[in-house]
Parts: sequence; structure tokens; C-alpha cells
Amino acid sequence: MTKSALQIARADYQPKLPKALRGAVKTKEGAPTQSVADQEEIKKLFPNTYGMPLIQFMESEEAKSYPVINVGVILSGGQAPGGHNVISGLFDGIKSLNKESKLYGFILGPGGLVDHNYMELTSDIIDEYRNTGGFDIIGSGRTKLETHEQFEKGLEIIKELGINALVIIGGDDSNTNACVLAEYYAAKQYGVQVIGCPKTIDGDLKNEMIEASFGFDTACKVYSEVIGNIQRDCNSARKYWHFIKLMGRSASHIALECALQTQPNVCIISEEVEEKDMSLDDVVTYIAEVVANRAAQGNNFGTVLIPEGLIEFIPAMKSLIAELNDFLAHNAEEFSQIKKSRQRDYIISKLSKENAEVYASLPEGVARQLTLDRDPHGNVQVSLIETEKLLSDMVGVKLAQWKEEGKYTGKFAAQHHFFGYEGRCAAPSNFDADYCYSLGYTASLLIADGKTGYMSSVRNTTAPAEEWIAGGVPITMMMNMERRHGEMKPVIQKALVKLDGKPFQTFASKRNEWAEVTDYVYPGPIQYFGPTEVCDQPTKTLQLEQSK
Ligand code: FBP
Repeated sequence: MTKSALQIARADYQPKLPKALRGAVKTKEGAPTQSVADQEEIKKLFPNTYGMPLIQFMESEEAKSYPVINVGVILSGGQAPGGHNVISGLFDGIKSLNKESKLYGFILGPGGLVDHNYMELTSDIIDEYRNTGGFDIIGSGRTKLETHEQFEKGLEIIKELGINALVIIGGDDSNTNACVLAEYYAAKQYGVQVIGCPKTIDGDLKNEMIEASFGFDTACKVYSEVIGNIQRDCNSARKYWHFIKLMGRSASHIALECALQTQPNVCIISEEVEEKDMSLDDVVTYIAEVVANRAAQGNNFGTVLIPEGLIEFIPAMKSLIAELNDFLAHNAEEFSQIKKSRQRDYIISKLSKENAEVYASLPEGVARQLTLDRDPHGNVQVSLIETEKLLSDMVGVKLAQWKEEGKYTGKFAAQHHFFGYEGRCAAPSNFDADYCYSLGYTASLLIADGKTGYMSSVRNTTAPAEEWIAGGVPITMMMNMERRHGEMKPVIQKALVKLDGKPFQTFASKRNEWAEVTDYVYPGPIQYFGPTEVCDQPTKTLQLEQSK
């Protein structure tokens, strides 16, 4: 592997661990837990892993000796900066418990477990990947681990390799599946533990006990750097409106965080659009008004941030997409036989009247994008829908209309961007490097403590790393029942942007000013070395959420 100068220097970075994990540890157990909703149903579905206590690791005077612990690790779903540090923390953790312990990586995601595709991760390999971005050490995949056949197939290789525990590094869906697997192995008394780790740049796997999913910090810093650069370009040339779509399949945390970091003229928050029952036209009118007001001051330029998941939060679109998801989940075969030219009419004929009308009103391209292949969880792949173009086209049409009516006299030229993949494999910020290493290390302690069905948890993360609190949260505690593929299923509740939370409230109190005046902030690139106020800042979201 040819390495860049930064990669070489960065390899020596020693991630910071919470003080409690730096020597011998003891376990403090909390009170029994409950799921966030639908307690009776979840309890019935998870009789062996429901109600377990919260776990916290504390410093101990007494060093214990541990048996060999062999672990299998899986990276699941979209890449997120810091995955390699979760693995190195896990590796160092099991080796410090017993140096004969072994770590196996399953290749290309959960499919690697089912297909018995694995490699042993030795210290030479681990050292090559410390503090690097990406998931390329073993690769990732989106195969769903959900059937008993898959669980049994996985067990064969687990037994063959003498693996005691699996660590699944993934988002809400993958951790839900980790919990189902933990329950299955516990019910069968196979003696295999399953531990989850909270990953996703989307930032929507969080709750009281999980303060952030890893990767969110780095990804938002990368996007904010580039948004800042675009804003400086746009303030220099003063001739373009930049429509910037930001990843985040569902929640708008990334768009909100980037807005807090860069102060754009417009940032749409999907959760607000839904709450206010806004139509597509309402969103377009709002943007067009900002454009027209700035034009009135002679400013024919600006920036608009758009969350990737917006379309699904516009109530009329949400209902359409839900019906499409259900319909396509049950009729995929029939739909695939329909000629492309007839697909639109076919779909219209199958939908309820209301949804058929909405579908028929959509531009051809967007309508088609809504029927493309689902992801393995049965959801529309919103990253394929070009909302940034859809919105700028519609804003252009509205402004032309206003021009005819004499309400607008400016010039409107748009540029389009989509930032997502650019940030998912960036070298982890100091925050993500430390947080991920701690999550991996904590996972090793949960395994040593005999736990299963837990997610590794590291809290108090706006304090210096030495004061972080490490432990485990029963995954069932985060679950509720939701409709998936047309059926009610137990799933980890997704954390959407809270409109009464401090991050959104702070944004809402500033946005009118940012819409009018040009007060862009240029955060610049992530700094890995230098003063702590430049290198070690957590996200604004986390700082605001934890501010008293
Ligand atoms: P995860 O939730 O699996 O971490 O993935 C998040 C994400 O990056 C979304 O923001 C985006 O919509 C999606 O993955 C894109 O998926 P893919 O990498 O399969 O194109």
C-alpha cells in the first residue's frame, strides 16, 4: 500500500481511551431496562435478551485473568469514518484480556459470515489500518442477517473457528438484526454472544445512552469544509445559487449540523417539513422567496442545503412512497416484467386514488427513481433521487412566473452538488478516532463480561476523552414496533431531528438572518495536529445537545 505523508504521520496517533478503561475494570450493573415503546410485544419476541440492565465499566484495583476470547467482526452497511479504529480497539481489547485471543474479520459484511468468507486479523494487518478511513480492511456489505438458515450457516464457521462472540458494526437496521441474532443464539444456548456498535454518518442511531453514531463527526466536517469553500466561491463570483444535497437517508442531522457549521442562506429540515405538513410547492415557495429577497438587495447568489431524505418527509410523498414500498415488496416479480415505457401507467393503475394523483403529477425522472430497486431493507434508495435538481428547477419556474408578474427582477442560475460518498471514508477526526477506538475496546469488555444483545456505549463525549463513560446498553431497550415490508417488526427506533431540541432551535433562531445577510462561515479542512480548539471539537449538534 503506498501511503500519503498524512497517513504515515497519522498511523502513530494513539487514540485516547476513557480513564476507566486504561487498567483493570469492574462492572457496575444498573436497574432492569424496558423498550422505548411496545414493551409487551418486544418482551415476547426477545424472552432471553429483554429487560437486561445497563452496564458501566469502572476502574478496579483488582486485575483479573481472562480465558482466550475469539471474536468475529462484521462491518455492515454504509461506510463511516472510524470503522478501522473500532476494529483496532476491539483487537487491542481482547489481546489485553488474553494475548492468545484471536480476531477474525468476515469479508464484505454479514454475507461473509453466511458464506464462510473470513480472514484472521493479525497485529501486522491491524497496524496498517489504525486511524485510517474506510472499511477496506475487510469490506462492508448490506446483506441482511435475518433468517434462521443464515444464523445456522453462520454458526458452522463460528464453531469451526472457536469464536465466542460476534461484533456487528452497523446502523439501526444492522443492530436490530444483531439483536435478533443474539436472541436466537441465546434461545438455542449455542454459547455465542453478539455485541453491536453504533455506526452511521447519518447520525440517526442515538438516544439517551448512545450519544452519537460514529462517523457523523468526520463526515459533517468534510461536507462543511466543502460547503464553506463553495460559499466563498459563490461570494466571490456572485452569480450562482448552489443547491447542495447532503446524505442522510432519513433524518436531517447532517444538513442541520452543516448549517450550524457554515451558516448557509437556506437549509431545509425534513422533520420540520413533515411537522408543518408542507407540500413540495411550499418548500419551493420558501426557497424562491429567499432568492427573491436577496435579489432585491442585488445578491443573485446563495446556498441551499437539502437533506437527502426530504422527499419522504413531504406528507403526500411519504404516503405515496409507503404504498409503493408495500406494493413493490409484494409484486416485484410482476413489476420487473412490465416494459419500461408502460411502468408509469402500470404503477398509477395499482395505487390508491390519492397516491396515484401525486405520482402522476411528478416529473418523469423522479417518478421513475421512486420505483427503482429497493435497498435490502425494502426502502427507496433516496440517494438516487435528484432532489437538488428537482427543487432548483421548480424554484426557477416560480421565479420566472414572479418575474412576469413584476414581483422579481433578479437573475437566477443554479449549480448542483451532492455530498455523501466524499465524506464516508475520510480519515477519522480526532473525535471519531478516539470514540471508535473506545467503542471497540468497550465491546471487548462486554464480551469478557459474558454479555450478549448489548450495544457498546461511550457517553459524556463533550468532556475530554479521559472522562468518557463506557459500558453497554441492551439493544432491546432501543426498540419499538414499526411497519417494514408490509409487516409490523421490532426495530431500533430511528432518532430524527427533534424540533424542540437545541440544535434545531439554535438554527431556527438564526436562519432568517442567514437568509438575508451573507454571513458564511468557512470551517476549512479537518485538522489532525495542532491546538485542541481546532483539532478536538465535537460536532455543534453534540455540543448543543449536551449544553445545560
Ligand atoms: P448506513 O445507515 O448503512 O450507515 O448508510 C448510510 C448512507 O450513507 C446514507 O446516508 C445513504 O442514503 C446510503 O448510505 C447510501 O447507500 P449506498 O452506500 O448503498 O449507496
